[in-house]
Amino acid sequence: MTSVATMPTSESDPVRRQSTPRRFVMCRPDHFGVSYSINPWMDPARPVDRSLALSQWEALRVAFERHGHRIEVVPGVPGLPDMVFAANSGVVIGGRAMSARFTHPERAAEGPAYHEWFARRGFRELVAATEVNEGEGDFLRVGRRILAATGFRSSPAAHREVERYFGRPVVSLELVDPRFYHLDTALMVLDEDNIAYFPEAFSADSRDILAALYPDAVLADDDDAMVLGLNGVSDGFNVFIAARAHGLGEALRAQGYNPVGIDMSELLKAGGGVKCCTLELH
Ligand code: ARG
Repeated sequence: MTSVATMPTSESDPVRRQSTPRRFVMCRPDHFGVSYSINPWMDPARPVDRSLALSQWEALRVAFERHGHRIEVVPGVPGLPDMVFAANSGVVIGGRAMSARFTHPERAAEGPAYHEWFARRGFRELVAATEVNEGEGDFLRVGRRILAATGFRSSPAAHREVERYFGRPVVSLELVDPRFYHLDTALMVLDEDNIAYFPEAFSADSRDILAALYPDAVLADDDDAMVLGLNGVSDGFNVFIAARAHGLGEALRAQGYNPVGIDMSELLKAGGGVKCCTLELH
């Protein structure tokens, strides 16, 4: 069932949103756990229910498929508990792929593991990032441009490397709150020219840039941000977000989008959500 035809939310709503089928890469959380802490959400002393994480992940995959999206699954690697967060594997746009290079030694081996998968998958052009680059965690394509973050993970040099390789303008943004350590924890792409974001996660200069580029953006509040509500995936109409991001869901509906709530509570213990588990092949 592909929901290509969309409905305006009210008679007065002039915007008709359109979903387009997507291709996503996901990695089964067979080896998921919280055995170290590299962001403020992670507490190794707090138990993780891996089978619950698996069923939440499976529910996300089913939700994507039900809405007409195609999923490719990468096998997880024992000893790499964060590999489930496929968004960090790299950036893929128009058959060109760049695999990630991680900040922390705990995740370093994921770079080559994902690189090998990309190579087997047969991308026309594939390189490994030479700068610290956490993939779609920090690089989000919005229409022609790429929004990129620095502050906690990916480096400013990585922004330039991505710009050169993909031949698209990269807009650099600075994250300032350690709870929102990746761009995709504070900003979500809704369609080719609109986004949702949590302004407080960004420096004053970056907020100005975002306000100028996206005057119609959906702004999230503290409650939405604290359940990683912005860590969502949109197909242009359906927006897959944390089920607990109620305010954000309403704000999206008011702008003609269709929020689809997904419970990712177990993956949130590692600081991840819907988008973290999803790499888009653009
Ligand atoms: N524990 C992981 C880390 O801190 C979570 C990564 C979430 N991924 C994302 N795209 N935000 O690196």
